[in-house]
Amino acid sequence: MKVIVKKDQQKASVEGYKIFKEAVQSGAKVFGLATGSTPLTTYDELVKSDLDFSDSISINLDEYVGISPDNDQSYKYFMNKYLFSKKPFKKSYLPDGLAKDPKEEIKRYDRVIAEHPIDLQLLGIGRNGHIGFNEPGTPFDLETHVADLTDSTIEANARFFEHVEDVPKQAYSMGIGSIMKSKKIILEAFGANKADAVAKMVEGPVTEDVPASVLQKHPDVVVLLDEAAASKL
Ligand code: GLP
Repeated sequence: MKVIVKKDQQKASVEGYKIFKEAVQSGAKVFGLATGSTPLTTYDELVKSDLDFSDSISINLDEYVGISPDNDQSYKYFMNKYLFSKKPFKKSYLPDGLAKDPKEEIKRYDRVIAEHPIDLQLLGIGRNGHIGFNEPGTPFDLETHVADLTDSTIEANARFFEHVEDVPKQAYSMGIGSIMKSKKIILEAFGANKADAVAKMVEGPVTEDVPASVLQKHPDVVVLLDEAAASKL
């Protein structure tokens, strides 16, 4: 794991952008993308840049179950708003939160990932160490699945909803098995409320109790932090 600490989120995001740029220059065509407040500044850098993704594929990590793509809380809506409307990709995949048959949707998403091996995967991290929606206890070899969100994740994501009861209780998530097959991974974490999770991910034992700790076993991971998120290292 290579850990890079910058003064603030903005400066760290410029590093994130540079890694995207190098990947594009070396021929990367499939990008795994994340939602949440963390990647927003990196997406801003991509939008401002002259990088061209019109011949590239994006595959998102996750989507809430039961939320339609036009709902402004859906991850599809988020991605359109902050990235795809400004920097289009040839094709952008997300799980379908309204899929009638979850088992079929899981199979479909696993096929999408198998057919498009991810060159560069961008990740955030939850306060409990989750990546995507792989909550603590999720087996490391799991692929796409429906995850039951923990109370801490529901509470953390409630800020995007009017009432905490409105936060969906389940989400489709790419599994850790699939994330680990990505050629290169960037994990970004900003702010003091991520410092514990970051310390456990980087310095703690590799354990399913801290899903992000599995990244210690990946050969090419860059962890991009601001000073606050790095404060417990
Ligand atoms: C959600 C997403 C994760 C994200 C995490 C952190 O749970 N499923 O992909 O990393 O939130 O979000 P934020 O970046 O807003 O702190």
